[in-house]
Amino acid sequence: MAALRYAGLDDTDSEDELPPGWEERTTKDGWVYYANHTEEKTQWEHPKTGKRKRVAGDLPYGWEQETDENGQVFFVDHINKRTTYLDPRLAFTVDDNPTKPTTRQRYDSSTTAMDILQGRDFTGKVVVVTGANSGIGFETAKSFALHGAHVILACRNMARASEAVSRILEEWHKAKVEAMTLDLALLRSVQHFAEAFKAKNVPLHVLVCSAAAFGIPWSLTKDGLETTFQVNHLGHFYLVQLLQDVLCRSAPARVVVVSSESHRFTDINDTSGNLDFSRLSPSQNDYWAMLAYNRSKLCNILFSSELHRRLSPRGVTSNAVHPGNMMYSSLHRSWWVWTLLFTLARPFTKSMRGEPVCPSAFVQVFAARKSAAHGVKDICSQASNCAPN
Ligand SMILES: NC(=O)c1ccc[n+]([C@@H]2O[C@H](COP(=O)([O-])OP(=O)(O)OC[C@H]3O[C@@H](n4cnc5c(N)ncnc54)[C@H](OP(=O)(O)O)[C@@H]3O)[C@@H](O)[C@H]2O)c1
Repeated sequence: MAALRYAGLDDTDSEDELPPGWEERTTKDGWVYYANHTEEKTQWEHPKTGKRKRVAGDLPYGWEQETDENGQVFFVDHINKRTTYLDPRLAFTVDDNPTKPTTRQRYDSSTTAMDILQGRDFTGKVVVVTGANSGIGFETAKSFALHGAHVILACRNMARASEAVSRILEEWHKAKVEAMTLDLALLRSVQHFAEAFKAKNVPLHVLVCSAAAFGIPWSLTKDGLETTFQVNHLGHFYLVQLLQDVLCRSAPARVVVVSSESHRFTDINDTSGNLDFSRLSPSQNDYWAMLAYNRSKLCNILFSSELHRRLSPRGVTSNAVHPGNMMYSSLHRSWWVWTLLFTLARPFTKSMRGEPVCPSAFVQVFAARKSAAHGVKDICSQASNCAPN
């Protein structure tokens, strides 16, 4: 109990006892709401204390959350073979107190991914990270793997991917990590990846879309599209479409799309405000590498928001994150000028390991409290998906 208090997980006390006719329930993403059977109404606030709450932590071992045909969340205790509408985590709720520190205050630039994941057990969770052989993708994959998740590194180059797997195994030989081929510049490869993943017959709880091309010279993919656009946005878009059914079956599940603040410095509309498709996959004459990157990052955000709107009612949330500016990964490798700029900026920007705010950003999405909900900068959209009526 002391440990729970230390972690801010106060036990529910008697002041929280509900008046007759009321019942406490939870949404798919852990928000507590109150149902009054007499008046047939629901509300977020506790009828006596007026407080809003959410459940803390994961379900106990052997429990699973499911949704019935009316959209009502229920819980299956596989060990004792019973089913209940009562969320076992209701014993440990935390107040949604707006005066308490927000997630941004809770986790700052000195927070490591490990800090955020401390005490979390991802055993049984399956995580796919694209572009996981280097940079932010690698740190994210490693962080999840070291906390028990089964992590699949989805990479275009198997040699680099296998080396990344070995580096994680060196840190913890029991880590459940594997590499699978995914070339986002080739839609057929995306399709093959999705088929191979589905053939494994495992759930998918987290899909982190981290792979990206940055500042590359103009080229067309074999599918006939400008490469930055296809790798950064369209390939991921297609991947999510193909894995959507698995994500929904694995709910609660999450998609995290790694975008960038640089999405601000462009637009994809023409002068009359209509979507200009030619800007998405421009010809060589209309190509500027930085603009292409920025546009693809804007697509990331628009995609993530729309995905969240569509899938959150089915228990799949989507968030876009900005990991930090000019972090010294391999992103700059396409041109020596980028390398020079990233090198000059390096002392002033976040590092991958020392202050890995970027992987933190992903895991913040996991640990996110409601106050982290909005703003594209770190995490955009963390809406509750089962609001009281
Ligand atoms: N670093 C920053 O300052 C920064 C800032 C804002 C946003 N971001 C975003 O953070 C994310 C991760 O970037 P990073 O900094 O970690 O860069 P990184 O180290 O270069 O990682 C990018 C990854 O994407 C992979 N990739 C490239 N083309 C691919 C393709 N066709 N198919 C599959 N994978 C492909 C790369 O694989 P290979 O090793 O095989 O090339 C690499 O693993 C990106 O979405 C980036 O836009 C980074």
